[in-house]
Amino acid sequence: MAYITSAALEETGYVVLDSYGSEIDPKEWLDIEYVDWKSSGDTRFAPLASAKGDIECNGFWNHKPPRTDKDGVWIDSQTAIAPTLTARAQEPGSNVGRCRVIELQPNTYADCLYNLHQDDNNRLNPDGTGWVVRSFFNLTDDKDSYFVLRENRTDPSEETRIALPAGAQLVIDTQRLWHAATHLGTEPRYCLITSWESGPELDAYIAKYNGVNKVESVVVDQETLDAGQAEQARRIAARAAALAARGQAEKVAMSEA
Ligand SMILES: [Fe+2]
Repeated sequence: MAYITSAALEETGYVVLDSYGSEIDPKEWLDIEYVDWKSSGDTRFAPLASAKGDIECNGFWNHKPPRTDKDGVWIDSQTAIAPTLTARAQEPGSNVGRCRVIELQPNTYADCLYNLHQDDNNRLNPDGTGWVVRSFFNLTDDKDSYFVLRENRTDPSEETRIALPAGAQLVIDTQRLWHAATHLGTEPRYCLITSWESGPELDAYIAKYNGVNKVESVVVDQETLDAGQAEQARRIAARAAALAARGQAEKVAMSEA
């Protein structure tokens, strides 16, 4: 047995879909309820679907009974405020696990490299069912910001940087690829993140929106890239030293983007 996966994601682990062309009222992400949930960076999250329909963001495996990141329960008080976002998450018709809006405060490329992580969406996922991947639908028009993807946390040679204007839509195997966002500017970035189960519905959705599995990276000057890489190495070493002093090993898998 093996997981059902998307052929479109096989080579690079991501696809970029056609940009969403319609305006969405910012109230849909500004008026929903957020909870403090530390992820990679200075973040809060507003769940639209959670393990039991409560406004909380814990991994489904941390609930009783524990389960994988599927069959999220929609939160009526949130979806009533965010009907378009809810419809977008449900549009492919694939199973939805966690669905939430992330609020990310501005950061730097160096911060982003340190924040790179892999998700654990497929914890407890039964063999033979669909592999859980994640959709990122950028809500704010973050023209100077970009998502960073790497196969290897510390290897810049195959880094991909994907632009994040309003309407940008990515589907990423976040358990495979190390990922985080560089968010430049002064205002928070908002992005709808949804766990989708791979299968024919998701494949059809990717095809419908002309998913491409390779894009030109956003251009960043070499000095910034080199300084970011050096700072990532410095922070990783500093954290390892601090943990070693406490007799612990580093835990890098996070549950959120
Ligand atoms: Fe993540």
